[in-house]
Amino acid sequence: MIKIVLFGAGNVVSHLCTIFEKTSGIEVIQVYNRNQNSLSGLPENIDKTTSIYEIKDADIYIIALPDDVISDFSESISFINKLVVHTSGSVAMEALSDKNRKGVFYPLQSFSKNKGVDFSEIPICLEASNNSDVKFLKELGNKISKTVVEISSEERKKLHLSAVIVNNFVNYLYKVGSDLLAENSLSFDLLIPLIKETAYKVESLTPFEAQTGPAKRNDKKTIEKQLHLLKDSPHKELYREMTNAILREYKSNLSG
Ligand SMILES: NC(=O)c1ccc[n+]([C@@H]2O[C@H](COP(=O)([O-])OP(=O)(O)OC[C@H]3O[C@@H](n4cnc5c(N)ncnc54)[C@H](OP(=O)(O)O)[C@@H]3O)[C@@H](O)[C@H]2O)c1
Repeated sequence: MIKIVLFGAGNVVSHLCTIFEKTSGIEVIQVYNRNQNSLSGLPENIDKTTSIYEIKDADIYIIALPDDVISDFSESISFINKLVVHTSGSVAMEALSDKNRKGVFYPLQSFSKNKGVDFSEIPICLEASNNSDVKFLKELGNKISKTVVEISSEERKKLHLSAVIVNNFVNYLYKVGSDLLAENSLSFDLLIPLIKETAYKVESLTPFEAQTGPAKRNDKKTIEKQLHLLKDSPHKELYREMTNAILREYKSNLSG
C-alpha cells in the first residue's frame, strides 16, 4: 500500500483525492491545508489537519500549492529524508528544500474543482533526484494513468508554456467569443460543436493542416468587415494580432 500525504486543498488536491481514493494499492492518509474551510470539501473519510507539526508518516508527500509558495513551504516542513514532490508545470524540482528527497508529479491537465476528469487519459510528467524515486513515481503514476513520462525541469518548463498557450489562451478566446455572442443575445451553445471539432481535428491533422478561416485564405474583404464589426470593441487589437499571425504563417502558401 502506497501511503500519501497531500498538502493543499485546491483544484489539484480535490482531483488527486478522488482518483487516489478509488485506486487500489494507494491510500491518502492525510491532507494538510492552512485553513479548515477548504478542507471541508474533501472526502469525509480522509484525515485532515491544519497543523504542519502533525503530519503523518507517509511514502510520499505531494505539495499542490501555488507555484510561488512551493519553495518556502517545502522549507517549513519539519521532517527530513522523505520523498517530497510538487505538482507544478513551471517550478523546477530544485526549488524544493534540500531537507527531503525531491521530485515532481505533474498531471498535464486543466483541473477545476467541480468538473470531473478521466485521470487515465492525463499524462503524468515526473522527475526525481534518484533512480529509485523515479521508479516509485512511475509505479504511482501507472496506477492512475495510461501515460507516464519522465521529463526534466527544463523540458517541463517548455511543456507548460505550450500548455498555457493551447489551454489558457484558447479558453480566453472562448470568453471573447462568448462575450460577443452575449452582446447580440446569441447562445454560446451554438459554438460548442465547432469547438469540439476544432479540438478533435488535431488528433488526426497537424495544427498547421487544420487551420481554416479568412486569415488562412487571405480573404481581405471578410477581414476588413470583421474589423469594422469590432470598431468599438476592446477585442479589435486581439483580432488584428491573431489575423496577422495567421497571415504570416500561411503567406508562403498563398503566394506560391
Ligand atoms: N489547476 C490546474 O489546472 C493545475 C494543473 C496542473 C498542475 N497544477 C499545479 O498544482 C498546484 C496547485 O494548483 P491548484 O490549481 O490546485 O491551486 P488552488 O486551487 O489555487 O489551491 C491552492 C491551495 O494552496 C493553498 N494556499 C494558497 N496560498 C497559500 C500560502 N501562501 N501558503 C499555504 N497554502 C496556500 C490554498 O489554501 P486556501 O484554501 O487556504 O486558500 C489552496 O489549498 C500549482 O503548483 C499548479 O501549478 C495546477
